[in-house]
Amino acid sequence: MSQILEATPYEMIGGEAGVSQLVNRFYEIMDTDPVAVGVRGVHQADLAEAREKLRLFLTGWLGGPALYVERYGHPMLRARHLPFRIDERMRDEWLYCMFKAMGEMNLPKALVDHLEQSFWRTADFMRNAD
Ligand code: HEM
Repeated sequence: MSQILEATPYEMIGGEAGVSQLVNRFYEIMDTDPVAVGVRGVHQADLAEAREKLRLFLTGWLGGPALYVERYGHPMLRARHLPFRIDERMRDEWLYCMFKAMGEMNLPKALVDHLEQSFWRTADFMRNAD
């Protein structure tokens, strides 16, 4: 019932356009903000593929169509991040970019609080170094 009555985060963020805006700003910030130089450094020079994959993944993760899974199967996110050394500092740089991008979008506070917690948990789960 609650699924019928309540909007998903995907709907609340503005569907396809909202997710694209978030992901584009996220990587723009990662690419240009000196705070994010560590996390930028573990990414490829060209961020296009990372941007597209995060867009597909977040669409499903936020409650929209499961685009990533349809294309690539189970994301196995933790395993996919093992090649990169992710400590607290790296995690926090990633979250800095995401929270900054979200902060620019004028989203309802309840949604921002919910997403900040969910992103924090997911990013901390990716941590593979002290
Ligand atoms: C905690 C710090 C994190 C670091 C340092 C990190 C780093 C990376 C790097 C270097 C890649 C490869 C991108 C490329 O250059 O092609 C990647 C891919 C990806 N990351 Fe992260 N990431 C982090 C957290 C997250 C979080 C929290 C999510 C989801 C909410 C996420 C979702 C993804 C996805 C979907 C991909 C594409 C996987 C694929 O190859 O199919 N990452 N990440």
